[in-house]
Amino acid sequence: MCWIFAYNGKKNAIPLLVEGLRTLEYRGYDSAGIAAVNEKKEIFLEKATGKVSNLASKVQKNPHAKDTYQAGIAHTRWATHGKVTLENTHPHVSENERFYVVHNGIIENYMGIKNILEKKYHFYGDTDSEIIAKLIEDSFDGDLLSTVTTVCEKMVGAYAIVVMDKENPSTIIGAKLGSPMIVGEGDDGVFIASDINAISHVAKEFVSLEDGETVVITDGKKEIYSLGERIIKTSEVIDHNQEMVDKGNFDTFTEKEIYEIPEVIKNVCKWRIDFEKKEIINETLESLGDHEIKRIEIIASGSSYFAGQVGSYWLKTLAGIPTEVRISSEFLYDTFLPHKKTLYIFISQSGETADVRECLKMVKAKWCLTFGIVNVVGSTIARMCDLGLYSHAGVEVGVASTKNIIGQYGVLLLLALSLWIKRDLQIHQCKTIIEELWNLPDTFELQLQQANTYKEIAKKYAKYPSMFFLGRNILYPVAAEGSLKLKELSYIHSECYSTGELKHGPLALIDKNTPSFVLNLKGIMQEKTISNVREIQARNGKVIGIITSGEDKSLYDDMIEVPETSAIVSPFLPLVPIWIMSVEIAKTLWRDVDKPQNLAKSVTVE
Ligand code: AGP
Repeated sequence: MCWIFAYNGKKNAIPLLVEGLRTLEYRGYDSAGIAAVNEKKEIFLEKATGKVSNLASKVQKNPHAKDTYQAGIAHTRWATHGKVTLENTHPHVSENERFYVVHNGIIENYMGIKNILEKKYHFYGDTDSEIIAKLIEDSFDGDLLSTVTTVCEKMVGAYAIVVMDKENPSTIIGAKLGSPMIVGEGDDGVFIASDINAISHVAKEFVSLEDGETVVITDGKKEIYSLGERIIKTSEVIDHNQEMVDKGNFDTFTEKEIYEIPEVIKNVCKWRIDFEKKEIINETLESLGDHEIKRIEIIASGSSYFAGQVGSYWLKTLAGIPTEVRISSEFLYDTFLPHKKTLYIFISQSGETADVRECLKMVKAKWCLTFGIVNVVGSTIARMCDLGLYSHAGVEVGVASTKNIIGQYGVLLLLALSLWIKRDLQIHQCKTIIEELWNLPDTFELQLQQANTYKEIAKKYAKYPSMFFLGRNILYPVAAEGSLKLKELSYIHSECYSTGELKHGPLALIDKNTPSFVLNLKGIMQEKTISNVREIQARNGKVIGIITSGEDKSLYDDMIEVPETSAIVSPFLPLVPIWIMSVEIAKTLWRDVDKPQNLAKSVTVE
């Protein structure tokens, strides 16, 4: 997926565009480009493959970069259609070199449109996005707004586009369907971006465009249209404290975000738990009592999906509600049997994951009750759900999600506790778990103090080509999260299995070159897991045990002790060690920890 950024106002657009791309880069970084226009209708255009820094150095060398261009559009690309080449890098331009376009999304009917346009225009690249620039030229009726509206009606798929017209330098136009678009206003003018992080340092307030809405920005003033009619949308103030991010004293955002975990769990519980009375006090959770919830389906992708699996154990075990967890890209194309007494929960850090978003649209179309567990405030999924709680992890820049998962676990546990109390009034047991939540920030702090121990162990395993992550019961999805994190940070192949499943085939892969991380915490089938560890070691497989403090250490080749907690709270405990070790292995292998190859922070295309 790609990310867009645009500006129209009094200041020189060039430096604002480059800075905007830098803040968006973590969301897709195969190539980047900017185009700007000045009052004399002169165009500034620069593109570069690779990171935004490559583009920035090309801009710096361009003698016109210091001229004042009042309007501009910019784009950082994660390749969907077409290889990573300059030709495929946005902004795309019409044949008459009048119209410039940046696009985030996928135009599903682009081949049909391209086949028609190829008879009249030359295509220099092989992206779907390029057809938009040609389509604008082909459809231009003298009015850019009506032309953009006409062009949008011809496109099928998801898009957030910004269009610039060389002959009309005081105006840029943005339109969206499916992909996110934020319009921010600050002292220097108006900005369009794919998410709030790109504008938080230059804008004071913002609006999120809904599907089908169009924004026209002229001389630093915005007008928003829906179905051809001008509409007024209420702006929201940007919380600059929360949105400003930098690495601080850390080498990477990912490491910084791991060290923010104690604050995250505090924020998740703040205003939602009265720790004095050990009670949950939250209107949204209270309002669930107004609905008869007979079953729950959780829909998510990646790490959010694994968090949903952990949540399903809590919802079944505590609240006694049958719960199913579905991978969004599978759920979307499976037979959907809407169930009026089912609560559909959508989990997403970015709130813009296309697979999850499209599932949400499908479920809402059948008038089912939806609940969002999202981190980015004001994001599409958060705004579309009937109910929801933010995971309050703060801005997460590292592509590999860490602190946000703690927020997701926290919200899911609060949800399960809240539904449990409504059903069984297990006040005493609930209070015990609330006490453990109270102690979690200190537990995480203790673990962070052990970071060097984790790192020393991790370094020993950076040389292996493949690793297993194993866990049973509620620890199985935690092991899956660990396996995903190792893969996406270090590029080392990793597989996750329920520990008891190993002997049914995957054990064939175990040898001295395939170590296994085994999660073996007190109260979760420890003895059976010990037998599995012995099966691995009998085949010369090394085992790194993640075990409860005080348990038998002699069994493992290496081990990490975590504080004792109840089985219910245990999923929180292996995460910090696993994440610190995955980062350390990635750093040992000189990987780009914050921007792993081939990935992007938010997958806004299906
Ligand atoms: C997590 O480390 C990965 N970056 C990825 O699996 C991510 O969890 C997934 O793409 C879902 O993203 P979301 O939570 O923003 O929807």
